[in-house]
Amino acid sequence: MLISERLRNIKPSGVRRIFDLARQMKDPINLSIGEPDFDIPEPLKEEGIDWIRKGFNKYTPTQGIPELREKIANHLRKKGVHFEEVMVTAGVTGGLLLASLALINPGDEVVIPDPFFVMYEYQVLLMGGVPVFVDTYPDFRLREVELTKKLTKKTKLIIINSPNNPTGAIYPKEDLMMVVRIAKERNLLILSDDIYDNFVFDAPACPCIGQLYENTLTFGGFSKGWGMTGWRLGYAAGPKEILQQMITLQQYTFSSVNSFAQKAAVKALDYPVEDMIQGYKRKRDLIYEGLKEKFNVQKPQGAFYIFPEVPGGDGEAFVEKAIQNNLFIVPGSVFSKRNTNVRISFAASEETLFKGIEVLNRIS
Ligand SMILES: Cc1ncc(COP(=O)(O)O)c(C=O)c1O
Repeated sequence: MLISERLRNIKPSGVRRIFDLARQMKDPINLSIGEPDFDIPEPLKEEGIDWIRKGFNKYTPTQGIPELREKIANHLRKKGVHFEEVMVTAGVTGGLLLASLALINPGDEVVIPDPFFVMYEYQVLLMGGVPVFVDTYPDFRLREVELTKKLTKKTKLIIINSPNNPTGAIYPKEDLMMVVRIAKERNLLILSDDIYDNFVFDAPACPCIGQLYENTLTFGGFSKGWGMTGWRLGYAAGPKEILQQMITLQQYTFSSVNSFAQKAAVKALDYPVEDMIQGYKRKRDLIYEGLKEKFNVQKPQGAFYIFPEVPGGDGEAFVEKAIQNNLFIVPGSVFSKRNTNVRISFAASEETLFKGIEVLNRIS
């Protein structure tokens, strides 16, 4: 057999049919996209270009350039996040892969609140681990009864993503404290994906579990907040023992990460993003107000997604109908064991959002 055993559980998405249909669309109203609709701010682009011109184009230290690691450490200290060591990674994706390699043995169970970002399930499977899903419908809250039902002797990790992709939910502090109490009782490690931590609409900041529990690996990045998805830059922070292993693994996998992007990112952490967040808050209000009459929908508190339940309760059928009406959105089944909802990204122009809302109401 040519292909490794490891890939036995890695299958192409079950909704490939829908993505095939979407590929045939010409100039769709596209509310499917998981990245910001703004470009990297000009001064940050200039900073990156400047460092390219200065010749900063070689390998960097495996764990990242010292000035960026220091900047990230200060950012996390200001937030009150517990950590002993920081490293720069190839996006949160790269960080999660290193953590999965460092921590998951075959048969280890990893608890993932459902709905969830697709990558978690597959990274766990890739290591031979077992993803265990905890239902958070209908209000996308973490509930003790649901969580404890799923814990076994094999449970090793819990993954928390807040603000959440695909729901836009921010878990309230009391939910996070409940998870911490359980994690402490059972000596579990928490992975906290904070990539949307500056997309917070109704509160000055978002509570994060790394503030409450030392045994947390916190992941963050520059893809969403500063539009740098293509520059592949993120970070991981947490207990020294784990970070040291991840740094060793980075040496043998990625070697190091994008040189000039690291220099630009030193500036990014000081670059004000409040106006952009206000713009996204307006888009959030627009889409929520536009859908709430006909859809059973939670108001997103962060990120840039809304996750309504569709009339009739068949998300995939609803997306096919949307595609027939030139609107591309993603079925909830991509992010969940349920197929009752759809994910709509509001990282789009207001004009596109108005067009999308019109179609969604017409076909519902
Ligand atoms: C929850 C979540 N985590 C991680 C990522 C990937 O981040 P990065 O670009 O830093 O690899 C995404 C991108 O969509 C995401 O939604």
